[in-house]
Amino acid sequence: MSVIYQAYVRSFARDLPGARARLDHLQRLGVDALWLSPIHPSPNVDWGYDVAGYDEVHPDYGTLADYDALLAAARERNIDVWLDLVPNHTSDRHPWFTERPELYVWAKSIPNDWTSIFTGKSAWRFDEARQQYYLHQFAPEQPDLDWWNPDVRAEFERILRFWFDRGVRGLRIDVAHGLIKDARFRNGQQYLRNRPEVHEIYARWQEIAAEYDPKPTLMGETYVPLAELPPYWQHLDLAQNLWFLRADFTIDELSHNVERVMREIPANRTPLWFGSNHDHSRMATRWAGGDPDKHRAALFLLLTLPGAAILYQGDEIGLEDGAVPPDRYRDVARPSRDPARTPMPWTRSGAEWVDPWLPLTDTSRNVEDEDADPNSILNYTRDLIRARRAFSDGSYERLPSPKGVWAYRRGEATCVLNMSAKSHVYEGTKLAKWEGAVL
Ligand code: GLC
Repeated sequence: MSVIYQAYVRSFARDLPGARARLDHLQRLGVDALWLSPIHPSPNVDWGYDVAGYDEVHPDYGTLADYDALLAAARERNIDVWLDLVPNHTSDRHPWFTERPELYVWAKSIPNDWTSIFTGKSAWRFDEARQQYYLHQFAPEQPDLDWWNPDVRAEFERILRFWFDRGVRGLRIDVAHGLIKDARFRNGQQYLRNRPEVHEIYARWQEIAAEYDPKPTLMGETYVPLAELPPYWQHLDLAQNLWFLRADFTIDELSHNVERVMREIPANRTPLWFGSNHDHSRMATRWAGGDPDKHRAALFLLLTLPGAAILYQGDEIGLEDGAVPPDRYRDVARPSRDPARTPMPWTRSGAEWVDPWLPLTDTSRNVEDEDADPNSILNYTRDLIRARRAFSDGSYERLPSPKGVWAYRRGEATCVLNMSAKSHVYEGTKLAKWEGAVL
């Protein structure tokens, strides 16, 4: 039922007081939760996904008091705050790396062919101080933690409690499928991620979450093939379905994904849909190719399918990828993910952004103008979020429809979506190109 809003803090409103000042926007949008990208101290090799202290707030973003104030102000608006927890690896500047190296994964010589996602080369790096190799699935500055070590588990159980005690109502778990590596270091990337023992970790985390009321939500970044998603539904409340985002914007590809999830998801779990995040081209560009009508179709789909939906900042105004010249790239990965991370245009003048970390290029789609225009994408998104409150049950039933139209029953309602650039008629209802209707 919930709509989760993903804010990439640095580009959403620069810092935590900035985010707090934008809560009215989120309240008017009607979202239930605000998921913040990592807010902890970090040397920013991977922009916060290389954490140097889990119990603190990065000075760029403010202080713990600013976090408390954001949480309190969000709660007044019935918006939960979720954090992004990075348990697979830390920054190499985290004190643990020098003071407690046994918390990481080491080998005396390179034991296998595992490669780093960011460098494409060996995932093992020689450490002069220890005269051994450590594992890094991502950048060399992001050493992987050893989740076979009970001390790592104890540390994270403590971190969970630290933030749950401070009112966090949900966690997005970074690289949730990656924590456990094959204990025998067997050759093959399949031994580096998505190991069966990872689920025990989330079973334990659920026990901790259950000590709180309401129980915080655990949402995993489960970047595994769709066929391998079901085990993650055992102990995660929400498992991210990246193959929906990566599907082409066609009825065939998307309905195949949706119908498979609806067939396989256990009755006590909630399906989850999203078309953008900070790692992929924004849906207004990738799916809609800049066509505002097509973008509306994507929003219609996300917000009328059963379960939960994530809106990434800017989806609600049809924001496209930013044009970032290569000499302004800040991302460690290639291809650069920066075009999906450019600042949120709140106004046409862009005066709210002084010297942003990535360029604010196109402000033609911005919150202020769209707020004033009753026919804008922003007001369309607000209407959809309001309308979805009527879909109380979680069922989905595909209905027969003319080619180019996707029709599905949602409890009492029928949703019809014209997934084509031509107009269609569905049982007497005229649908303009890319138009969705709830009948
Ligand atoms: C996740 C994050 C991504 C980050 C990576 C390594 O995939 O979404 O931004 O680079 O983990 O932490």
